[in-house]
Amino acid sequence: MRKEKITVLPGDGIGPEVTKVATDVLAAVCSRYNVELETTELPFGGISYDEYGEPVTEAVLDECKKNKFVLLGAVGGQKWDDLPTDKRPEAALLKLRKELGVYANLRPIIVWPALADASTLKKDVISGTDILILRELTGGIYFGDRVVSEDGENPFSADTMKYSRSEIHRIARKAFEAARLRDKQVCSVDKANVLESSRMWRKSVIEISEEYPDVELTHMLVDNCAMQLIRNPKQFDVMVTGNLFGDILSDEAAMLTGSIGMLPSASLGDGNGLYEPVHGSAPDIAGQGVANPLAAVASAALLCRYSLNLEEAARDIEAAIQTVLEEGYRTPDLYNDEPGTTKTGTQEIADRLLEIISEKATV
Ligand code: IPM
Ligand code: MG
Repeated sequence: MRKEKITVLPGDGIGPEVTKVATDVLAAVCSRYNVELETTELPFGGISYDEYGEPVTEAVLDECKKNKFVLLGAVGGQKWDDLPTDKRPEAALLKLRKELGVYANLRPIIVWPALADASTLKKDVISGTDILILRELTGGIYFGDRVVSEDGENPFSADTMKYSRSEIHRIARKAFEAARLRDKQVCSVDKANVLESSRMWRKSVIEISEEYPDVELTHMLVDNCAMQLIRNPKQFDVMVTGNLFGDILSDEAAMLTGSIGMLPSASLGDGNGLYEPVHGSAPDIAGQGVANPLAAVASAALLCRYSLNLEEAARDIEAAIQTVLEEGYRTPDLYNDEPGTTKTGTQEIADRLLEIISEKATV
């Protein structure tokens, strides 16, 4: 039996609830394909700060780097909001991404047919949407130099948005490669009418596009893109953009799918893989058993696809998600009284997912 090691970082808020479901589903599906999953759970985020005074310890970082594949829940919460920047749970996340070198963040935006009525947008606008957002994850303004000047009469602060050609080249390549397996269209999003870093971005993406003459490249300014995403999302195939714009646009795009509770992500680079739902730790609903586990479960599917090389297992998980949705299971974030649907908790969805996967195993 093949063995795979995965580090699980449940994190804060609803993180532990949703990662529990994801790891159970992952273990069930892996055993169908004769893969024995060994998981190590470690503290990360606010919970780590409370225990060790650091949002991530060196030991945890080392373990993540050693195991290569990480499944993460969510981090953060009001409790830690006033800590110095480097002690905040979010700082741990940025550090982990950087140290793992996972520069390519894939955020697939897929509107599941069963959820076409769950979005606040009109069904005919969103149904059939299938976008792959590629967000650059280890550079740009999230990692540029910062200035905080509290002195003088008018204190100021600054963040630097910096991109080098090689950083843009490698993420652009990922976008073109991904597009080749899809509709062969890449839309690069920037703010080249104002920002130098965006002009560098555009020029560098064009350079790489020359290696992919079979893929069509277009450019869009980020403000227009924010509008186009809700005006006509079906126009997009692969979207590639920098760290900040990708962060914002992917939350917006999440609403096309009905809820941010549906959006998985995979962050790849240097042979490492970090898998996390796009949603946050939602402290307001933590511990109530109502969190939507599907983004975490879908992230586990991406782990099978991109790190474990188990495409069939990934599809089994995605099929199980589709079935629970078709059967009408809805956590409160998705529930809108639609006939044929039932408001359910996290555990009911988890149980049903595991049942579907085990039923399939006996066919
Ligand atoms: C995300 C999150 C993080 C980010 C936060 C929690 C630091 O919003 O993964 O999109 O900005 O990258
Ligand atoms: Mg975000």
